[in-house]
Amino acid sequence: MGFVLQGGKIVTTLGIITADVLVEGEKVIAIGSNLTSDEAFDVSGCYLLPGGIDCHTHFDLEVAGTITADDFQSGTKAALVGGTTTIIDYATQKKRESLKLALDNQFQKTNNKCFCDFGFHMGITDWNNNTVSEMKALMACGVTSFKLYMAYKGTLQVDDGVIYKALKTGKDLGALITFHCENGDVIDVLVNEAKLKGELEPLYHALTRPSLVEKEAVTRCLDLAELADHYAYIVHLSTEAGLDRIIAAKERGVRVLVETCPQYLLLDDSRYKTEGEKYVMSPPLRKQSDNKALLAGLKNGIIDTVATDHCSFNFAGQKNSASDFSKIPNGAPGVEHRLSLLYTYGVLKHHISIQQLVALTSTNVAKIFGLYPKKGTIEVGSDADIVVLDPNFKTTISYQKQIQNVDYTPYEGFSKKGKIRYTFLRGTKVVDNEQICIKHPTGKYQYRKPFKGGM
Ligand code: URP
Ligand code: ZN
Ligand code: ZN
Repeated sequence: MGFVLQGGKIVTTLGIITADVLVEGEKVIAIGSNLTSDEAFDVSGCYLLPGGIDCHTHFDLEVAGTITADDFQSGTKAALVGGTTTIIDYATQKKRESLKLALDNQFQKTNNKCFCDFGFHMGITDWNNNTVSEMKALMACGVTSFKLYMAYKGTLQVDDGVIYKALKTGKDLGALITFHCENGDVIDVLVNEAKLKGELEPLYHALTRPSLVEKEAVTRCLDLAELADHYAYIVHLSTEAGLDRIIAAKERGVRVLVETCPQYLLLDDSRYKTEGEKYVMSPPLRKQSDNKALLAGLKNGIIDTVATDHCSFNFAGQKNSASDFSKIPNGAPGVEHRLSLLYTYGVLKHHISIQQLVALTSTNVAKIFGLYPKKGTIEVGSDADIVVLDPNFKTTISYQKQIQNVDYTPYEGFSKKGKIRYTFLRGTKVVDNEQICIKHPTGKYQYRKPFKGGM
C-alpha cells in the first residue's frame, strides 16, 4: 500500500520544486511527474516540508518538586500537530547515577506513549572515573550527544575541568557536547542578594540572570572548545552579546554550532510585568535588540537550529504558587507552535526564506544530530516524514485550541498564517486538518549516528 502527494511544492535546503512524491511503506520511493498509487492526495498550492525535528524538549520532567504538564503522550501529539515528526528529549543523570540508568529511566517514561519519533541527549551532572566508558556505551545505544550545564549551581552545574574533559572525550568518541551557557556561580550570588533585599517578583528571575552571565559562559565555553579542539553546540542562545562572541570565535576558527528558540526571537522582557511567572525560563527573555540580532543570526547562517526547549508547567498551581521567583519551575511550552511561528514571523516577514526554515527546523538538526538523510529531507530513500503546509489560512494562536497539555501559551493572540493540512510520519498520515488521526502511538526510538563534524 502506498500513496502519492500530487503537485505540492517540495522544499529542501537546495530549493523548491513542484513535483509528485510517491510513498511506499515508510519511505519516499520516487519524486517526479504523473506518479500514481493506490491513494492520491491533491496537495497543489501547498508546501511539502520535511518533518520538523525539535532537538530540545523536556517531557515528563521533574523540576523543583513538580512534573511538567506535558508527558510523552501529550507532548508528542502536540509536536505532530505542529509539524514536528521527531523530538530529541533529555535524559539527565542524577548524582551518583550511571548514565545508562538515567537513560533507562527516561526511556521508561516513553513506554507506549510517543506519537512521534524520538531520541535522547544525555545530561551529564556527575563526572567520575566511569564516565568515559559510560559515554561510549551510550553511543552504542544511539545517544550521540551530551549536555553540560554551566548553570543551576548545586544541582546540574559542572565545572570547567568537566567541560574540558567532556569535549576531549567527545572528540575521541565522535560525540557532540552541548552547553547551557549561563554562569551559575554568579547567578547564585545575584539570586541570594535579591532575596535578601526582598526582591521576589518574577522580574527578578530575569534581573538575576543578566545578558553578561550568558556572554561570559559562551566565551568560556568557546575558549574551552578551542583548547580541546572540538565542536561545541550552544543550546537556547538568548543574547546579542553571546552571538557577538560566537561570531568572533568563528572568525578565529573555533567550531561552534548554535541553537536558539522562538521565545528568544519573538518575546521580550516586558513580559515579566504581567503574569511574569509564565515566562520564567532559563535563560530569561531579553530585550527587543536581542530578538533582532538573533533574527539576523538566522538569516546570515550564524545560528544553525531553532528548537523550542519545551518545558511546560501550568500557570495555575505550578508556576503561580511559588513564594518567590527562585522557586518557580523554569520553562515554557512551545513544541506545538515552532513551525507556524517561524513561518508567520520568520518567512512571511522576510527574515528567512522557506528553505532556511527547513534548514533550521529539520535539515540542519538531522545533520548535526546524526539522523540525516533518513530524516531532515524529502528525498528518495528518506523516511516519509512530510508536512503539508497550506499557506492560505490565517488564524490566531490560543491556549484553548492547543493540543499541548498546559493552561497557557506564551504566544496567546499571535497570528498564525498557514495551516498544517497533513502530517505524515514514516508514511502514515498522523495529522489531518490539525487533528491527530491515529488512535495509538507509533513513534519509534531513533538510533542516532556519531557526530561527523557539523554540516
Ligand atoms: O527554563 C528552562 N529552559 N528549563 C529547561 C531546562 C533547561 O535549562 O534547558
Ligand atoms: Zn538549558
Ligand atoms: Zn532545556
